[in-house]
Amino acid sequence: MERFRVVGGSSLRGSIRVSGAKNSALKLMAAALLAEGRTTLYDVPSITDVEYMTELLRRLGAEVERDGTTVTIDVPAKIGHAAPYELVRRLRASICVLGPLLTRCGAADVALPGGDAIGSRGLDMHMSGLVKLGAEVGVEHGFVVARAPDGLTGANIWLDFPSVGATENILMAAVLAKGTTVIDNAAREPEIVDICHMLIDMGARIEGMGTSTLHVEGVEQMRPTEHVTVPDRIVTGTWSIAAAMTRGDVTITNGKAEHLEIVLDTLTAAGAEVHTEPDGLRVAMSERPTSVDVVTLPYPGFPTDLQPMIIALNAIADGTAMITENVYEARFMFVNELARLGAEIRVDGHHAIVRGRPTLSGAPVVTTDIRAGAGLVLAGLVAEGETLVSAVHHIDRGYPDLVGQLRRLGAAVVREPDPDRFDD
Ligand code: UD1
Repeated sequence: MERFRVVGGSSLRGSIRVSGAKNSALKLMAAALLAEGRTTLYDVPSITDVEYMTELLRRLGAEVERDGTTVTIDVPAKIGHAAPYELVRRLRASICVLGPLLTRCGAADVALPGGDAIGSRGLDMHMSGLVKLGAEVGVEHGFVVARAPDGLTGANIWLDFPSVGATENILMAAVLAKGTTVIDNAAREPEIVDICHMLIDMGARIEGMGTSTLHVEGVEQMRPTEHVTVPDRIVTGTWSIAAAMTRGDVTITNGKAEHLEIVLDTLTAAGAEVHTEPDGLRVAMSERPTSVDVVTLPYPGFPTDLQPMIIALNAIADGTAMITENVYEARFMFVNELARLGAEIRVDGHHAIVRGRPTLSGAPVVTTDIRAGAGLVLAGLVAEGETLVSAVHHIDRGYPDLVGQLRRLGAAVVREPDPDRFDD
């Protein structure tokens, strides 16, 4: 087990490049299963979640090679259809192999990923969508067991909530179904648009990408492709908030401002200067931030994945802010850790009231998920003295070389063994 030792007080200054999005790359890797042959993905981030997905694809029979940020996936004509618990439990996103396996093999057995530290994360919409496409789907002995021996048939599917994962699973299943599928109230995240682009290059017929209604005309067969992963908007947002909080000046290359409009508007309201540049954006701030209210919503709303970081910003802002979490019921759990740094936060249901303080004070804290971890590191950057962030394997799941990048921007951060923790 390792931890980060963060010494607060430095302003982040300089330039960093953001790599491809975790939440896209993992799905693009699963989408490769739809076609026999060699698919190459570029700008895949070097994070542990990609290692787990690599392992899962190998277990299903694909040959996967990684060379830096390039991943080559060679898919045989016949692939396995079982995703075992010991792999799925490490990576909830592995549920996204359900749709591709079912549509390619007529069968899929994918272990239930279980809940995690940010809420229950059901699968009901994934399963009912596949049932609409004609599959028999149930839960047996801890596995989602789906069968469609005669293939899937297009259908009209309405999602109760624009779930990212359900949209992706149904979309990937529908590309090889017979006839037309319409997914209504579909998620519109840039990662969904990214996977649509890749599927279209593979031969899929999809209309409406980036809107709430996706039309998919099933095709007989998909072909392998080459694809560059969309830049990570959550990592871009993390650096933007970090620049503002530390009263720094950071240029984020490869970041897409158009994927972060509400976040950047929020930072501007807090007092930051935001400039869009030809290959990215620049965020600078010289004063203490002003408190900003935030409501998380599906895209294009404020992303729930940036909620811990904006709470950290509000913890040192001038004023009081109300943060409303609409996507994950248990995402405020990390505020107890933030309170260890002196943050004043009161949680009531899905609202958190954050009373800004002039300063925080460093303390040992432990993270329970990727984004809470990033929020705690950001808080540590502005706290007086040392903050020790434990269980950083969570952060490694989503941020490539966070410590190296922070150091390049002038932060006093080291990674070190954690003598106090042996497991999670
Ligand atoms: C993805 C992202 C995650 C992000 C989230 C919302 C990946 C790997 N993860 O997660 O970082 O925070 O989108 O932007 O891409 N739900 C149900 N039943 C379902 C499906 C979802 O109740 O069948 C609920 C979930 O419990 C959650 C909410 O809907 O409360 C949103 O989930 P969803 O959009 O599906 O998120 P993920 O795809 O799991």
